[in-house]
Amino acid sequence: PDVAGKPPLAILLCSPRGFCAGVVRAVDTVERALALYGPPVYVRHEIVHNRYVVESLKKKGAIFVEELDEIPDTDAPVVFSAHGVPKSVPESAAKRNFFALDATCPLVSKVHREAEVHFKRGREIVLIGHAGHPEVEGTMGQLPPGAMTLIETVADVERFTPRDPANLAYVTQTTLSIDDCTGIIAALQRRFPQITAPHKEDICYATTNRQEAVKAVAPRVDALIVVGSPNSSNSKRLQEVAERNGCPHAQLVDRADGIDWSKLDGIRTLGLTAGASAPEVVVEEIIDAFATRFAVTVETVSGATESMFFPLPRQLRELDKASD
Ligand code: F3S
Repeated sequence: PDVAGKPPLAILLCSPRGFCAGVVRAVDTVERALALYGPPVYVRHEIVHNRYVVESLKKKGAIFVEELDEIPDTDAPVVFSAHGVPKSVPESAAKRNFFALDATCPLVSKVHREAEVHFKRGREIVLIGHAGHPEVEGTMGQLPPGAMTLIETVADVERFTPRDPANLAYVTQTTLSIDDCTGIIAALQRRFPQITAPHKEDICYATTNRQEAVKAVAPRVDALIVVGSPNSSNSKRLQEVAERNGCPHAQLVDRADGIDWSKLDGIRTLGLTAGASAPEVVVEEIIDAFATRFAVTVETVSGATESMFFPLPRQLRELDKASD
């Protein structure tokens, strides 16, 4: 094609972006289960919050349900999503003799264990997170009702009345905005100076690194695209981070056909990143879509290097060993 008539566009590609170690493990769990046992493989909730990933796994024979009672009696594997599940879910899976594979991200399980330790030590727990997100439902569901209070904003902190302010602890969702969370923690510590904090932050390395990469690029671009689904918490946070750090317009798009071109008229620079559940093939699709309208150059802006890796759930590892 003749590129002469196209306006130039410099794409600044954020690194790191896209799949985190927890998402790789969760998607591999479903794929490995499909390969070993054949379809169907049942998955409780979207394995990760990405439409492309879910649709691809459906084509391979995964069946997605919201609750276990939608699954007939079966020998087929039942996978729990990366976001984690309330304790009641593995319990009812065991009652129905399901072959359960838990794809909960180990960094979410770590938060579950922290909450349990606080509870055993008699502490009242504050969970900083977003109401309705499955990770929040899973974390709250580790403990009996009333053990944990969900806090979403600084205003919630001001309204919160603990049973005993000297005996409080907090944990957080793993995919929050670092800046929002810092503000909420500061408010908690101001009101309740004795509150126990996590040893190491609960917001995960992948969330942190993707937000930092966007912060570096946002002030340099006219617009920024986040590849990700609208229900992906960490992807939505990347869009907010971009707009709060000097980027005039940020869009969250699932696929290239979702780009709102009317907002991108006359741009010269574009930031591009992907949420932790968004596959790199869609990033490439987006670059191709821009290349049909602009004379594109791509520069990678590198932040933290990542080397995190999580092994598959135990049952699948044992089977791998057995078939070696
Ligand atoms: Fe786990 Fe963080 Fe990814 S909690 S699933 S590594 S976004």
